[in-house]
Amino acid sequence: DKGHYRHYMAKEIHEQPEVVGRTLAHYLDLASGTVRLPFAFDFDARALSRVTISACGTAFYAGLLARYWLERFARLSVDIDIASEFRYREAPLPERGLMIVVSQSGETADTLAALRYARAHGQHVLSIVNVETSTIARESDTVALTLAGPEIGVASTKAFTCQLAVFACLALALGRARGVLTEEREKELVAELIATPGLMAQVLKDEARIEPVARDVARASSVLYLGRGPSYPLALEGALKLKELSYIHAEGYAAGELKHGPIALIDFSIPVVVLAPHDASLEKTVSNLQEVAARGGHLILVGPNSAKVAAAADLAGFIEMPETAAGAFAALVYALPAQLLAYHVSVFMGKDVDQPRNLAKSVTVE
Ligand code: F6R
Repeated sequence: DKGHYRHYMAKEIHEQPEVVGRTLAHYLDLASGTVRLPFAFDFDARALSRVTISACGTAFYAGLLARYWLERFARLSVDIDIASEFRYREAPLPERGLMIVVSQSGETADTLAALRYARAHGQHVLSIVNVETSTIARESDTVALTLAGPEIGVASTKAFTCQLAVFACLALALGRARGVLTEEREKELVAELIATPGLMAQVLKDEARIEPVARDVARASSVLYLGRGPSYPLALEGALKLKELSYIHAEGYAAGELKHGPIALIDFSIPVVVLAPHDASLEKTVSNLQEVAARGGHLILVGPNSAKVAAAADLAGFIEMPETAAGAFAALVYALPAQLLAYHVSVFMGKDVDQPRNLAKSVTVE
């Protein structure tokens, strides 16, 4: 049931404050403002040397983003690869290591094969899944559920932000278990996490401002997305959403990688969407934005007003984000404008939003 929404995707985008809030409540103790996982680690978190992550598509991007959190908050190095590559790489895995697989459906063939490879090589497998009865959930040692509810739209939206919510809690729990995160810091970070659903709701309330930007993007035949730090995987995800839904060619790049090649593409016919939350890398991202501006690029900034002021550049579009959507977990909030932009471009172009051509909701064949 789509309720009053035109598409399942719109409904699912709008459900995010609620389902992310619900997912956070499942992994946090809201009263004390600390992490409380609904399962115990039945592996020795202190003895872990690294974590392996594998998944496909959007779920892979959630893992790529989580790497920043796992390294920073749990001091764990992360080896991550798409499942179709990982399953055949013959990767050596650490003794009694931890493998995390991520899947909305829990039925993705390549992700299941990656899980089986890891189990066969002595890993403890933790899966982040949305379907409790799925094959991946059944074959895992530990199941971390995303409480996103059924996702009908083929393009993943709410499952993605719920995966991020679970990963964030997991990174903090591992940081605590490994003795590398103080309780005080944990509480500060949990407070930032708890703020994200409200910030998401704020972004959704201002959805109308995305439409003119979408009309502009719909005219392009190619679009670049740039981000740094956790916004880099988000740039990849934003580009994937746009490709899937509008069939416009799009690529995501790490902002700092621009000058190593892609900057040759810059001209006014290619919109460049810059994801610039107020985090530790904002200043660097702004200087990359200015490099694009200096070459006559077609800039669309997604960021707080302070980023716009700092950029002091000619912008073709600006999606203003709340100034308070900042810090370590800003990606949960910045996922929304990326989804909404792709959605509105697709609607504007008259494409089939919920059932893009050539795509299936669950890829159970290799
Ligand atoms: C993109 C999308 C796909 C899936 C991928 C993995 O919008 O939906 O990239 O994320 O096929 O699917 P799951 O998460 O079911 O394993």
